[in-house]
Amino acid sequence: MKYIFGNWKMYLSHAEAVTLAQNLKEHMTSHEHEVVVFPNTISFAAVKTVVDETVMVGAQNVGWTPRGAYTGATSAAVFAEVGASHALVGHSERRHVFGESNEDIRKRLEACIDAGITPVLCIGETKEDRAAGKTEYRLKKQLMHAFEHLNLNGNDMVVAYEPVWAISKGGEGEPCMPEEAERMHIWIQEEIKQYTDQEIPIIYGGSVNAENVLTYTSESHVAGVLVGHASTKHDAFLAIIAAAATT
Ligand code: PGA
Repeated sequence: MKYIFGNWKMYLSHAEAVTLAQNLKEHMTSHEHEVVVFPNTISFAAVKTVVDETVMVGAQNVGWTPRGAYTGATSAAVFAEVGASHALVGHSERRHVFGESNEDIRKRLEACIDAGITPVLCIGETKEDRAAGKTEYRLKKQLMHAFEHLNLNGNDMVVAYEPVWAISKGGEGEPCMPEEAERMHIWIQEEIKQYTDQEIPIIYGGSVNAENVLTYTSESHVAGVLVGHASTKHDAFLAIIAAAATT
C-alpha cells in the first residue's frame, strides 16, 4: 500500500475540479492505495460529494482555532465536519509565499489533531539551504517545532519531504534524485524517533509524474508521493496510481 496524494493547489477552476473528481470516480480501478486529493476550499464539498468513497479528500490549509474572528480562514473543525480526512500543513508555498512560520504550522498541526484530521506535515530545504550545507539543519528545526511535546492522541500523521527546489512551478521541475530522497527519508525517520514511537509514513513530493513515480515508490523508505501539477490531469494522476500499484 502506498500513499498517493494529489495537491491541486490553485491550478483548477471550480468546474475543472468537479470534472477531475468525476473522472477519478469513473476511471479509478486500483483501490489498494490510500489516495487523497486536496482541492481548493470552495470546491471541497462538491469534490467530496462527487468522489464519494473512491478517494479521500483533504484540505490544502486549515485555520488554527475551531471558530472565532478570523476573516478569510476555514477551521480544521469545519473541514472535518464536511468530511476532510487529511490536511496539508506547512506546505512550502504556505511557508514561503504566505509567510507561515514554524509556530503557525505547529498551531495548525494541533488544530488538525483536535479535529481528528490526519495532518500531512510538509518539510523541505531551499536551494540556498542545500548550497550552504544546511539541509539537515533546516529539516531538524522544522521537525522539532512540529513534534516536540506534540500529543498525537492516537491520531495518524504523515510527513512529506518536499525539497523546495524540487517543487514545480506549474509543469516541469527539477526532481530530487530517488536515491537522495531515500537517504533523506532514512534521516527524517531517525529524527522523528526522538519524538514519537508512533509510525509516521514519510512520502516524497517535488516534480513527481507518471514517468518517474516508480523510481520513488520502489525505494524502501518512500511510503508514497505528494503530487502537485501532475495530479491535476486525470490521465497523469491515474497513471501515477496505476504505476505505484506495481511496487
Ligand atoms: P509538483 O508539486 O508535483 O508540481 O512539483 C508538489 C507539491 O508542491 O506538493
